[in-house]
Amino acid sequence: MISGANILVVDDNPDIIESLTDFLRLNGCNVFSAFTGKACIDLLRKNKEIEVVILDVGLPDVNGIALLDMIKVENPTVSVVIVTGNQSTDSIVEAIKKGASDFIIKPVEFEKLIFTLIRALKERSLLIEKEHYFQRLEDKKKIELLNRELQKKIKELTTMYHISNQFNSINIFTDVYDRMVQIVKDVLEVTSCGYYIFDNNKGEMILYSEKSNGHISVMDKTITVDKRFLKLLESGKKYALRKNRLFVPITIKGECIGFIAVDTKKKGVGSPVSNEEEDIFLLKLIAEKASTHIENRILYESLFESVFKTLTSLMKAINKRDAYTENHCWRVTEMAVELGERLGLKDNEIGAIKVAGPIHDLGKIGIPDSILLKPDRLTDEEYHIMKTHPTMGEEILNRFDILSNEASIIRHHHERFDGSGYPNALKGEEIPVSSRIISICDTFDAMTTTRPYRKAVDKSYALEEIRRCKNRQFDPVIADCFIEMMQEKGVGNGG
Ligand SMILES: [Fe+2]
Repeated sequence: MISGANILVVDDNPDIIESLTDFLRLNGCNVFSAFTGKACIDLLRKNKEIEVVILDVGLPDVNGIALLDMIKVENPTVSVVIVTGNQSTDSIVEAIKKGASDFIIKPVEFEKLIFTLIRALKERSLLIEKEHYFQRLEDKKKIELLNRELQKKIKELTTMYHISNQFNSINIFTDVYDRMVQIVKDVLEVTSCGYYIFDNNKGEMILYSEKSNGHISVMDKTITVDKRFLKLLESGKKYALRKNRLFVPITIKGECIGFIAVDTKKKGVGSPVSNEEEDIFLLKLIAEKASTHIENRILYESLFESVFKTLTSLMKAINKRDAYTENHCWRVTEMAVELGERLGLKDNEIGAIKVAGPIHDLGKIGIPDSILLKPDRLTDEEYHIMKTHPTMGEEILNRFDILSNEASIIRHHHERFDGSGYPNALKGEEIPVSSRIISICDTFDAMTTTRPYRKAVDKSYALEEIRRCKNRQFDPVIADCFIEMMQEKGVGNGG
């Protein structure tokens, strides 16, 4: 029953070691032996398979009880059977308290030893099982904790992905501040939030955009920003709490341009924010993303402005050559924008008309004066050269990546609805809608303006011409809308 057991005998008496070793080997045990405490610990360290230590507590180098502690530290599951000549109950009780499995009194009776060893081995296997159980419990707790952390991370990453996606969908015509407030409301699920523009000179912030659950505005329209508040933001925290509102600054190149303000009550519950730390982290992330977008927007707008200024000054140069067309392009643009709005065009399409309209004849810069300013009818060859102005205009605009949409509108502003126009003879909806709009306004204004080779026609007559050329030169829906628009202004009604 004890056969195969790995047993370490520790005693300073060689005779006892010898007799115990012989007996245990006879019973099929693997026996290790040590004369000192140090040797005992060394053996335990090297031989992890040792299951039971038969320990004489009267060793020369170390106190038996202290050695018992060391043994349990080295191998917590090993069973220790104390061998003592001293029958003092106190020392035996102390040894049992320290984790000894059992004790035997010298001289050792082999029969009793066998039963003691069987109990010790049984106790050890229970101890191992208990250890495994606790380990499993511990593992389970660890797994649950890891799982919770993982769920939190997934939620955090999903939210971050959502924020990035929302910002990536912003285009040049989106109101960044308004979109930012919407994102804050969606992500943080707050009852209300807003964006304040910071006026450093007046020392106040002014509400620009607000989103809340109800229809009633809850954000203050103006808030005075004192030094204490700014100091709070400058501290490492980069946020400030004020009257149940959380404020996170939007900064560009180290300068505060505004604040995101968030109600610190959760939607529908009315209790304080439960995950304040997480909310602050997400708010800072949104503020950072918004800052980058706003900075890019400022750069884009200044670049766009300088490109546009260059192109309009080119246009002015053309207008100087051809005095009759002075203001023609601006009038065309004004009408085209209004017409586009009536037709329900998107913001970006209206924006493209605003840019392409004033410079739609930009390509005329390449047409010689002898043709552009000729008071008589053009010859076929001259007309052919004149017809190159849309593609020339497109070529100039294509040098600016940011104006590719406008370049296409300019290329096609002389296409006709029935496919008889130039340069590509596009038909119907193949022609960009903005080109179809500009085409009608351009024709109307050209007809009603005196040219070197003919006088202006009456506006009612011009409108009739537009009606007559529906389906052939012009998109019928756009033409009808244009006629209606002009009639509302009194044109064609005898006005
Ligand atoms: Fe033109």
